[in-house]
Amino acid sequence: MSHPKRIGILTGGGDAPGLNAVIRAVVKAAHTHDIECIGLEDSFDGLIHPEKSRVLTPRDVTGILRLGGTVLGTTNRGNPFAYPVNTDGGPVDYSDLCMKNYKEMGIEALVVIGGDGTLAIAHEFHLRGVPIVGVPKTIDNDIAETTMTFGFDSAVAFATDAIDRLHTTAEAHHRVMVVEVMGRYAGWIALYAGIGGGADVVLIPEIPYDLTKVAARIRERDAWGARFSIVVVAEGAHPAGGSRTVVSEGSAHRVERLGGVGELVAVELERTCGKEARYVVLGHLQRGGSPTAYDRVLATRFGSFAVDLMLRNEYGVMVALKSPDIVAVPLERAVGHIRTVNVNGDIVSTGRNMGISFGD
Ligand code: F6P
Repeated sequence: MSHPKRIGILTGGGDAPGLNAVIRAVVKAAHTHDIECIGLEDSFDGLIHPEKSRVLTPRDVTGILRLGGTVLGTTNRGNPFAYPVNTDGGPVDYSDLCMKNYKEMGIEALVVIGGDGTLAIAHEFHLRGVPIVGVPKTIDNDIAETTMTFGFDSAVAFATDAIDRLHTTAEAHHRVMVVEVMGRYAGWIALYAGIGGGADVVLIPEIPYDLTKVAARIRERDAWGARFSIVVVAEGAHPAGGSRTVVSEGSAHRVERLGGVGELVAVELERTCGKEARYVVLGHLQRGGSPTAYDRVLATRFGSFAVDLMLRNEYGVMVALKSPDIVAVPLERAVGHIRTVNVNGDIVSTGRNMGISFGD
C-alpha cells in the first residue's frame, strides 16, 4: 500500500510554544517525500469550512520555528461532534459534514496536533475511518503515554524567570510572594518551576494542602533569618478536604476555568503569619513567546516522526517521547485520562530534600 500523497494538518485546543515548530517539521518532512500538505484553519473548524484551508509549502513555513502561537489558528470550543451554536436546539453534530469535506478535499490522512480534548476528537474521527496521527501538545505536560509535551519547557522557563524576579523583591521587602501558575489538574509546571526557581513552598493538585503547615514553614524561615518566602501555587491546587478555585464553572461543552487560588493563599498567609503577602498570577504569559530550544527540538522530532508514520501507513496513533526515543502509541491509550505527578516519585522527593514544603 502506497503512502498518502496529500495530508491535512491542524492545531486544536489552547496554544503552546512549539506548535509552529511541529507545523514546519511536518510540512518540510512531507515535502521531502513529495507529499502535499494542506493547512486547516482553527482546528476542526477547518473541515467545516474547507474554503479556509491552504496548501503549505516549505516557503510558507520559513521563519516560523521560533514563533509562539500557531499560524493555523486554534480553538478549544469547536468539537464537531457537539458544536456549540447560539440556537435553542443545543449543540450541532457536524461530523458528517467534516467527513464529506475531508473526502472532497482529497486529503488521505490527517496530522492532529492537540491536547487531551483535541486528541479525543481525533480518536473519534479515526474510529470513523480517517487515518490519523496525533501529536501531543500542552504546556501542562499532562498527556498520558508521553514523558514530555512540547510547550512545557517554555512555560517552566518563563515561570522560573518570574520566580527569580520575585525573589529579589520578596527579599528586599521581607514579604511572602505567592505565584500562581497554570497546569490545570496537574502540578508539573509548579513543581518544575518551584524546584528550578528555588521556591520554599510548592502547592500542587496531587497533594492537598494545609495552610497551617505552610505558615509554619514560613515562620521557621523567619526564625532563622530568611524573612521572606516564595510560594508557588498550581492553579488546580486545593486544601485538604476543600475544592479547587474556579473563575467559571464548566458546562457540557466548555471546561471549567481554574484560577484564584493564589489570592486565597496569599490572603490567608498574611493573616496567619502576620506579615505582608502579595500574589502574582502568571496566566497566559506562560503560553506566549518563543519556544525554548528544547521545545523546538522536541516539536520538530514529533512532526518529523508523524510523517515517518504516514510513510509506513501507521494510523490511529500518537507520537510520544519515551526517553530517549520518539515512539508511536495507540491514540486510545493516550486519551480520556491525564498524567499527573507521582507524589512518591523522585521529583517530589527531590523537592522535599531541598526543604520545599508541599503543605502536607
Ligand atoms: O491547558 C493549557 C491551559 O493553559 C491550562 O494550563 C489552563 O488552565 C487553560 O489552558 C486556560 O485555558 P484558556 O486559555 O481557555 O483560558
